[in-house]
Amino acid sequence: MEYPDPKRKSNMFGKLLMAAAVTALCIIMLKHSPSFSTPTHFSRHEKGVTHVLVTGGAGYIGSHAALRLLKESYRVTIVDNLSRGNIGAVKVLQDLFPEPGRLQFIYADLGDPDAVDKIFSENAFDAVIHFAAVAYVGESTTDPLKYYHNITSNTLMVLKSMAAHGVGTLIYSSTCATYGEPEKMPITEETPQVPINPYGKAKKMAEDMILDFSKNSDMAIMILRYFNVIGSDPEGRLGEAPRPELREQGRISGACFDAARGIIPGIKVKGTDYKTHDGTCIRDYIDVTDLVDAHVKALQHAKPQNVGIYNVGTGKGRSVKEFVEACKKATGVDIKVEYLPRRPGDYAEVFSDPTKIRRELNWTARFTDLQESLGIAWRWQKAHHNGYSSS
Ligand SMILES: NC(=O)c1ccc[n+]([C@@H]2O[C@H](COP(=O)([O-])OP(=O)(O)OC[C@H]3O[C@@H](n4cnc5c(N)ncnc54)[C@H](O)[C@@H]3O)[C@@H](O)[C@H]2O)c1
Repeated sequence: MEYPDPKRKSNMFGKLLMAAAVTALCIIMLKHSPSFSTPTHFSRHEKGVTHVLVTGGAGYIGSHAALRLLKESYRVTIVDNLSRGNIGAVKVLQDLFPEPGRLQFIYADLGDPDAVDKIFSENAFDAVIHFAAVAYVGESTTDPLKYYHNITSNTLMVLKSMAAHGVGTLIYSSTCATYGEPEKMPITEETPQVPINPYGKAKKMAEDMILDFSKNSDMAIMILRYFNVIGSDPEGRLGEAPRPELREQGRISGACFDAARGIIPGIKVKGTDYKTHDGTCIRDYIDVTDLVDAHVKALQHAKPQNVGIYNVGTGKGRSVKEFVEACKKATGVDIKVEYLPRRPGDYAEVFSDPTKIRRELNWTARFTDLQESLGIAWRWQKAHHNGYSSS
């Protein structure tokens, strides 16, 4: 016959007591954590407050837009997977707007349906500005599926969740790359869209999906087709800090600054035999401050059951050579320039006709001096040698 050992019995009792204490402690901690104390500022609609989901808000344009929205008293939720953006940009915003209910950051991938559904279930958004995307023309030609997945399929996911959760307004980040290489300049919103690279095609597919969806929906939709974005916050709080490994894919302003800082030996101008006045490509460079202003105006003018499509550009084309000259002046560095053959997927000349957005949204580009925009961006670059990681 076995008799219970009194020592073992008291040991067991002690363990049970400990487990109960730990459980009670966990419940108390959960109840005091911000996500458990429902409803939070972000989980309920509040009269007079517009809560905007900014996807890709840790990125270049998204962070600048979030800053402007916060300054205008919008409530902002940033969702980003940090694949290309910077947590440092989010920290800058959090430091500027630490008050409860102003800004929250959610680390999530928009390609994950459960994560997206959870975000929309737990938050009461009034509007979504969908910036999140991979956005390099060159990369899209070598890895097209990444682009169709990240841009087209993720936009479908966002749109479905918006519809399921009754979110009323969508501002969609599209691009002049959806036009391809039109014969007639400037590009109006009526110019046929014939994209010539997977980036442009993926964005055009996302636009088409949104337009088809809009036919049976009350959603207020604005599609903004940006031209080439440059510049940074004039007060020097935010900048453009792409991943170093994407340097080769990067945009011309990044390359100019890297060359001016001696990180790369010089800049490579790809294509000198285009049918333009100096043989290099012509683009319409829009300052990020103007661009985010267009988003605020789009939010203000968005109407239910209505789709607005707008070009966001200056209406002026500048050649790559002109851009490089402006960059040399802005940085004060005599940047070395190497001329190379064309890059696949590029087009000769692209500039906008911004008449429609001026007429309907009362928006016009104000920062149209290339050297000035680049000078502002250069100040941030010089003060942030390692991007947001350190100064
Ligand atoms: N920069 C330009 O010149 C330009 C021109 C036309 C259109 N656009 C569009 O503007 C938008 C923003 O571009 P940007 O220049 O700020 O790029 P960016 O790379 O700086 O920002 C994009 C952000 O989206 C995030 N992101 C990407 N995939 C994600 C995913 N699956 N889930 C969650 N987050 C994700 C990235 O981490 C990044 O923070 C893009 O839609 C781009 O196509 C940009």
